[in-house]
Amino acid sequence: MKEDKEIREFYSRQDESNKYDSVRFRNGGLVVDESEKKLVMNLAKTEKMQNILDVATGTGRFARLFSKDKKNKVFGFDYSKKMIKILKENKENYFEKVRGDAKMLPFKNNSFDCVTSMRFMIHYDDLSVFLKEMSRVSKKHIIFDTPNKYSLKTIVSFATNVTKKIFGFSYMSWFSEKDMRKTFDSLNLKVIGVRKTFFLPQGIYRFLPYPLARAAKRIDDFILHEILKGRMACAHTWMLAVKR
Ligand SMILES: C[S@@+](CC[C@H](N)C(=O)[O-])C[C@H]1O[C@@H](n2cnc3c(N)ncnc32)[C@H](O)[C@@H]1O
Repeated sequence: MKEDKEIREFYSRQDESNKYDSVRFRNGGLVVDESEKKLVMNLAKTEKMQNILDVATGTGRFARLFSKDKKNKVFGFDYSKKMIKILKENKENYFEKVRGDAKMLPFKNNSFDCVTSMRFMIHYDDLSVFLKEMSRVSKKHIIFDTPNKYSLKTIVSFATNVTKKIFGFSYMSWFSEKDMRKTFDSLNLKVIGVRKTFFLPQGIYRFLPYPLARAAKRIDDFILHEILKGRMACAHTWMLAVKR
């Protein structure tokens, strides 16, 4: 596992938290934001979910989305003080904000219909501890994404020494589909669905103007799904059922 302290420090920097959305989801990066949100909502809508916990919610992209439906009871959970402060400042965030470590979620067993956690697993090598906690507090489902080891994005791994210098730590972990399925089996979690997205590393999109990024995403989808049949996707988004 990566040094928790390093990750904590990274997201505790005021500037890092403040610029989180504007760096990643500006210009063509908005296409990535829209695509991730659509994907999660499509997975979630297959089941009736009203009590939702969004772990490592960051700026609350997903918690905010779920809480738009006033029938839903939504919690956004993160351990960065700065992120929680940003969440509280945004008047559109009609969800509960809770601070803590995802290794020990401060909720009772079976408290939620669904636990979501996007762009979180990228930071850790051993996911078991988090998946165990998420499945303990979820009655039914868990939705989250993992970066695929066999994708163009792994080129980024060659640059981890550089990122270590810039960000203070190497922030990416990589998982193959096979390894993830093994982990799920060992934790008694059943795969209900897996969506494979992005042939081009998502970070590239932010450097394109929005209309160009939309066109690029259509070509990206064609290459990934029609030619590569889902192989070499940068991200795997999983929907799991908790087996009791
Ligand atoms: C890349 S951001 C993802 C934010 C959001 N889920 C999204 O998709 O935009 C990762 C977030 O994970 C949080 N985080 C990292 N490790 C954590 C842990 N052990 N417990 C709770 N939050 C954690 C960070 O504070 C940060 O806000």
